[in-house]
Amino acid sequence: MAKYKADSKRYDKINYRRTGNSGLLLPEISLGLWHNFGKNDDFDNARNLIKCAFDNGITHFDLANNYGPPYGSAEKTFGKILKKDFKKYRDQLIISSKAGYDMWPGPYGNFGSKKYLFSSLDQSLKRMNLDYVDIFYHHRPDYNTPLEETMGALDLIVKQGKALYVGLSNYQPKEAEKAFSILKKLGTPCLIHQPRYSLFDRWVEDGLLDLLSNSGVGAICFSPLAQGMLTDKYIKGLPKDSRAVKDGRYLKTDQVLDKLPKIKALHEVALSRNQNLAQMAISWILKDDRITSVLIGASKPAQILDNLKATKNTTFSTEELEKINIILK
Ligand SMILES: NC(=O)c1ccc[n+]([C@@H]2O[C@H](COP(=O)([O-])OP(=O)(O)OC[C@H]3O[C@@H](n4cnc5c(N)ncnc54)[C@H](OP(=O)(O)O)[C@@H]3O)[C@@H](O)[C@H]2O)c1
Repeated sequence: MAKYKADSKRYDKINYRRTGNSGLLLPEISLGLWHNFGKNDDFDNARNLIKCAFDNGITHFDLANNYGPPYGSAEKTFGKILKKDFKKYRDQLIISSKAGYDMWPGPYGNFGSKKYLFSSLDQSLKRMNLDYVDIFYHHRPDYNTPLEETMGALDLIVKQGKALYVGLSNYQPKEAEKAFSILKKLGTPCLIHQPRYSLFDRWVEDGLLDLLSNSGVGAICFSPLAQGMLTDKYIKGLPKDSRAVKDGRYLKTDQVLDKLPKIKALHEVALSRNQNLAQMAISWILKDDRITSVLIGASKPAQILDNLKATKNTTFSTEELEKINIILK
């Protein structure tokens, strides 16, 4: 492969939104490496996905300690891609990782202790061959560890220069509010919250988005396409190369079939807006200015290009929103 040179027009292709009250701008669409970057996934395809994203202004790449499979392998793949193609672009990248779910056996490889967070981040930095990550997240709340310990660990991680900013993922509003207050007192304000949010899962509308906006914390939403269900790929059957058929760990074919009538109806609304369903699903999230970025996944570069078009049409009429709400009831 020839030496990679990023597209010089990339920063004109996408908008950047401010992350809460911070100085950090994130692209309206970011790319996550949960799927398609594991040990047995095609390395050249993984490499092309990152290049395609960056060439189109996507500066933010989201990882976690346990993305793979096996655990850690997405970070290894990403580290390899950074070394081959992105060495001179490090200062133009926002790289995140997380700890909070099962990672290694025994009492120190899961949840929210200071021991786990520090050890895990050190491992992530080694796998990606980085000196620091831009954002380090606690991946989920841990009700058996004092919030002060987990937030204290995040604060110390920043003070030691291992991460520039910290975030929380999957925290409910009440616990998030407490965590924000502890972090603020420690002098490391929470940068961003990462919840699941899509047309099919709207829990964040019940308090979380208001809390984030009132607290000056950014919002980056994961699985905006409900893992691929909010696209036109399942309308004519179950493609062999789709996540539901190929993987099935997190998205089951039964789930897809169950949602099919709604998918088809939403697809019609998307067509009436001159979009496809994936684009409409992303636009529908971006219409809300409390959202900083929509965190997509992709198995092919063409999907990234397709999804980026969503940023060009983020206005919805009242009638369109009503139609969508009726379908989702
Ligand atoms: N914090 C957390 O707890 C948490 C949890 C989950 C995810 N995340 C983050 O969020 C990221 C995104 O999650 P996700 O992968 O579930 O997001 P998603 O955007 O809802 O689903 C991505 C999948 O949809 C399909 N797809 C994407 N664009 C398409 C298009 N234009 N047309 C047809 N199919 C398309 C592809 O699947 P096919 O394989 O079927 O092509 C792709 O892998 C993850 O990588 C991770 O960084 C965080």
